[in-house]
Amino acid sequence: MNETVKLIYRDKTFEFPVVTGTEGEKAIDITQLRSQTGLITLDSGYGNTGACTSAITFIDGDKGILRYRGIPIEQLAEKSRFVEVAWLLIFGRLPKQDELDRFSRRLTANAPIHEDFKYHFGGFPTSAPPMAIQSAMINTLACFHPQFITLGDEEAFEEAAARLLSKVRTIAAYAYRRSIGRPFIYPDPKLKYVANFLHMMFSMPYDQYVVEPEIEHALNQILILHADHEQNCSTSTVRMVGSSRANLFASAAAGVCALWGPLHGGANVEVLEQLEAIHKGGLTPQKCIEMAKDKTSGFRLMGFGHRIYKNFDPRAKILKASAEKVLNKLGIKDPLLDIAMQLEQLALKDQYFVDRKLYPNVDFYSGIIMRAIGIPVNMFTVMFSIGRMPGWIAQWKEQHDDPNARIARPRQIYVGPTVQDYVPIENR
Ligand code: ACO
Repeated sequence: MNETVKLIYRDKTFEFPVVTGTEGEKAIDITQLRSQTGLITLDSGYGNTGACTSAITFIDGDKGILRYRGIPIEQLAEKSRFVEVAWLLIFGRLPKQDELDRFSRRLTANAPIHEDFKYHFGGFPTSAPPMAIQSAMINTLACFHPQFITLGDEEAFEEAAARLLSKVRTIAAYAYRRSIGRPFIYPDPKLKYVANFLHMMFSMPYDQYVVEPEIEHALNQILILHADHEQNCSTSTVRMVGSSRANLFASAAAGVCALWGPLHGGANVEVLEQLEAIHKGGLTPQKCIEMAKDKTSGFRLMGFGHRIYKNFDPRAKILKASAEKVLNKLGIKDPLLDIAMQLEQLALKDQYFVDRKLYPNVDFYSGIIMRAIGIPVNMFTVMFSIGRMPGWIAQWKEQHDDPNARIARPRQIYVGPTVQDYVPIENR
């Protein structure tokens, strides 16, 4: 049945089609709204606005469901690896063995960065935030691979995607090494994606870092859980930039900047800082909850709440279990994990959080695992950006391949001064 919605405005009735997704989600198609009625919609924060149709990721925030290309996140987190998930997201289905092998070979071949590229790191102060370096360097990549600025065919796209996905991890590791004054460590072609990253982060020229399988699994899982999340702030940024036909690298660099903010990917840093403040005694869990409820405090319980999930974030559930496992394996007793669990318990039975359906999100437990692995706090959001890269690439490609895609150009309702004359400076 073709459903429609009727809009009555100034005694006239207009009819708009209802679009239904494969999971039954419905939207009013208002493509003709302005041309027919002269009206636009106003939706601050886009809470009611669908910017595109997409076949990549499905979320049901009320039921706590997340699926990549139809596959439940729980299955992918348990059975898959990051590179396979990346292929799934970007190319739309699980890869066959030869496809996965070819993609892995491309990732390995692309792991080193151009020797000249290394000198750019020296231009940043050692105190530079790694997210600034990450974004700048991803943009710089396009200068070293100008053949990928215009992607002619599928082969060129796959090579560009592999290049970006592979080099982003080398860039992240180099940014970290630079910040602590350690020599850059070349990627090791014998190692898989996650192990190679940890090697570049933690090996020394005279001492190879050996990664435990459980740690490799946990980090694979973190990256998988961050790999896509449909039209969030940074992904919408990638699409917005890409809609002007900006190249893949420039669009991804913009995504990193959007992710940096504390209400988005930057929340994982803030969570750790809040937990540490409680641990150091400056704050108690109870006080934290009280401050989060007090609208005049400007304080939020970081790692809690989500625009879409009004139930448990399924990623947070997986990460909570993983945090306990990793800490046990490493024999670490981290008081921050106990504090996090205490905070979660307090919040889940507090009426303020219950009424607003505020649950732990992906950022609440991820930091505890990364800290146990030895990843410093200022790299947490960078880790998120490595994880999110397949999603950004997939979303950029989906938009790029859409024959109906148009440049993204929202409208506004102007509320500034009406026309007025220019006043010379001496008369003001
Ligand atoms: N602590 C206290 N109160 C909160 C929190 C929180 N963490 N999150 C939401 N609220 C309150 C709001 O104050 C608001 O209350 P009100 O209805 O009395 O005015 C209500 O819950 C609804 O919140 P909104 O701000 O409308 O929710 P929105 O969808 O705009 O924001 C967001 C979602 C940004 C994630 C928010 O929950 C938040 O700031 N959380 C903390 C930061 C965080 O963890 N971000 C990471 C999100 S996951 C990710 O990006 C990867």
